Amino acid sequence: MSNIEINHLSKTYNSKSPVVALQDISLSVASGEFVALLGPSGCGKSTLLNLIAGFEFPSSGSLKVNNETPKAPGPDRGVVFQEAALFPWLTVWENVIFGPKVNNIPRHEYEHRANQMLRMVGLEDFREHLPVQLSGGMRQRVGIARILTLGSQILLMDEPFGALDAQTRLSMQELLLSVWQKIKPSIIFVTHDIDEALFLADSIYVMSARPGRIDRKINVPLDRPRRLEDTSSEIFRSLRLEILQMIRSSHG
Ligand SMILES: Nc1ncnc2c1ncn2[C@@H]1O[C@H](COP(=O)(O)OP(=O)(O)O)[C@@H](O)[C@H]1O
Ligand SMILES: [Mg+2]
Repeated sequence: MSNIEINHLSKTYNSKSPVVALQDISLSVASGEFVALLGPSGCGKSTLLNLIAGFEFPSSGSLKVNNETPKAPGPDRGVVFQEAALFPWLTVWENVIFGPKVNNIPRHEYEHRANQMLRMVGLEDFREHLPVQLSGGMRQRVGIARILTLGSQILLMDEPFGALDAQTRLSMQELLLSVWQKIKPSIIFVTHDIDEALFLADSIYVMSARPGRIDRKINVPLDRPRRLEDTSSEIFRSLRLEILQMIRSSHG
C-alpha cells in the first residue's frame, strides 16, 4: 500500500540565476490511484517526478511517500522515462531480472514474477531478444515489466509514450490500463496530451508554467474499464473541451 502526500512544496534550482521550477504545490495520491500531471513544457512536471523519485529535493514544503521523506531513489518507486533505459547488451529477460539480481533476491523469488510480468506486457516470446531488436513500444513494455518485477508499488512515468507513433501510443495506453487494473500500483503519469490524461487517469492536476503551479484538480468521471472507443463519446469530448478552455484562460 502506497500513498504520496505533498504539501506547499516549492523547488528552486540554484543555477547561475535561480529558477523557480515549482511553487506551492500540494497534491496527494492514494494507494492504487492513477494520477496525471498535465501541463506545457517547462512547467515543472519532470521536476515534480524527480522529487518523488528522490533524484532531487524540495527547497521548501513537505513531500512524503508512505509517511516518510524520500532521501534517495528506491525500488518502491519505479521510474519510466520517454526512452526505456535498458542495458543494450542484455536480453529482455536479463534486463527484467537485473534489479532483483543485484539486490540479491533469491532466483526462485523473482523468476516467477518476471515471467508473469513479461506475459502481462505481451513479451513472453521475446525473452532472448536484445533491446535493439525491439520496437520502441516493446522497449517501453520491458521497462514497465522490469519495475513491476522489482515490486515497485509506485510508478513514476515521465511522458513514457511521447516518442511513439500515434497507433503504438494508443495501444500502450490500453496495455498500461490493463496492467494497472491487475496490479493496482499508484501511478503518476506526466503528459502534455489532454486525451491521454483523460483516457488514463482518475484525477488530473492541470499545471501552468513560470513558476510551475497547479491550477486545477479534475476528477475524471469516466467509468472503468475504459476503451479507446470511449474517447469519442459525448462526455469525453465535453471534458476535453473544458480542459482546453481552462488551459487557454490560464494563459491569458
Ligand atoms: N537541473 C536544473 N537546473 C536548473 N534549472 C532546471 C533544471 N531542471 C529543470 N530546470 C528548469 O526548471 C523548469 C521546469 O523544468 P522541467 O521540470 O523539466 O519541466 P517539464 O518537465 O514540465 O518540461 C524549467 O524552467 C527548466 O529549465
Ligand atoms: Mg519534462
